[in-house]
Amino acid sequence: MEDKRPEWSSHISFIIATVGSAVGLGNIWRFPYIMGKNGGAIFLLTYLLLIAFICVIPLCCELALGKLYKKDAINTFKSINPKFKFFGWLCIITVTLIPCFYFVVGGWILNYIWIFLSSKIPDNFTQYFSSFSSQIFIPVLLTLLFLLMTAMFPYRGVNKGIEKANNIMMPLFALILVILAIFAITQPGAKEGLFFMFKPDFSQFNKSMILTALGQALFTLSIGMGTIITYGSYMKEDTKIVKSAYTLICCDTIIALLAGIMIFPIVFSFGVEPSAGASLAFISLPEMFAKLPFSWFFGLIFFILLFFASITSGISMLETTVAAFMDNFKISRKKASVITTAIIAVISIPSALSFGVLSNFKILGKTLFDFLDYFTSNIMLPFNTLIICLIAGWCIPDFWKKVFGESFFGRVCNILLKFIVPIILIFVLVTGI
Ligand code: PFF
Repeated sequence: MEDKRPEWSSHISFIIATVGSAVGLGNIWRFPYIMGKNGGAIFLLTYLLLIAFICVIPLCCELALGKLYKKDAINTFKSINPKFKFFGWLCIITVTLIPCFYFVVGGWILNYIWIFLSSKIPDNFTQYFSSFSSQIFIPVLLTLLFLLMTAMFPYRGVNKGIEKANNIMMPLFALILVILAIFAITQPGAKEGLFFMFKPDFSQFNKSMILTALGQALFTLSIGMGTIITYGSYMKEDTKIVKSAYTLICCDTIIALLAGIMIFPIVFSFGVEPSAGASLAFISLPEMFAKLPFSWFFGLIFFILLFFASITSGISMLETTVAAFMDNFKISRKKASVITTAIIAVISIPSALSFGVLSNFKILGKTLFDFLDYFTSNIMLPFNTLIICLIAGWCIPDFWKKVFGESFFGRVCNILLKFIVPIILIFVLVTGI
């Protein structure tokens, strides 16, 4: 193990940095749209159960692997057994594919910032979104702009400033979400929206929904892609793993719930389809802003903060790939950043065109954008997570004692890690697909 590994200056800065990586479009854009498509409250219930009892185990494992080995994802797997290096690469492939659709949404955010900045607010956002996203030039340009803005950070190797900004922007973001959620629940359709979100309709329950809830839970917590291993590697010796994991889960879940409470009442007030898909937040939220006094101001602040939340997540994705390329191909940070950016650019251009000229180009019945979203979240993340649990549970002697302690609680977690979580992951993967 290396001696001079940098450490987070305090427990709180570790938590804020990890929350900064976890909280992003997964909470504000993906969570409501996936919940809307999967029956609302029944999805939420499944998601909460999975996150609290299942996903917490691999989350603790990733943090502990980072803390114990103090290396990036690939070298962590390699240190456990050189044959496992391949699994580290699977995490890196996943975290490189995610930006190829995530940054398209980042481009949409840039467009909305421009709308509210220039006060050219359209009357009907449903129409506006479909005409904007189906264009050729602007969505591609904005996706690439978002990519370049994000890639600047790993390229220059300066994440310090962004970490400081995180400490101000994240609490501010939470505050504006609370204000908007309060406004949303005073709207005429609020009751219906809240029922949709909190009153489960058990007839909507199905096996593929469990896989989707699992994919969302892993996506939002950034599990199964090596990022948490990397973040855990900067942990101080005395930082408690289980406590940190639950703190992260609570912060992330509160933000996601606030996003839902903000979006669904508006969806029902304005007659938007809850199952509208990827466009949901981009149709319903601006409708709400248009109703508020100083609409451009709220819209602008909201999208700037959302931009910030997504860029911090984006940076952590790129940084994971860049670090892996640097370490494993022995190339400079700048070269690794350029290669990473080029790969993502090549895939994200057709992905950005999935809503227009390439809407008929389908892989397994999905547009490239939807396919990347589905394949990474619902297949690669559960698979990588399964591997992480199996390796941590079965290939590292007494790993569970180091993570969970030798108490009764520790023993229960050990059974979860070795048997229950892998069995559930296999079951959900096999039946869901
Ligand atoms: N968890 C982030 C979100 O919910 O937006 C997405 C993410 C961040 C994925 C970091 C991957 C990653 F490495």
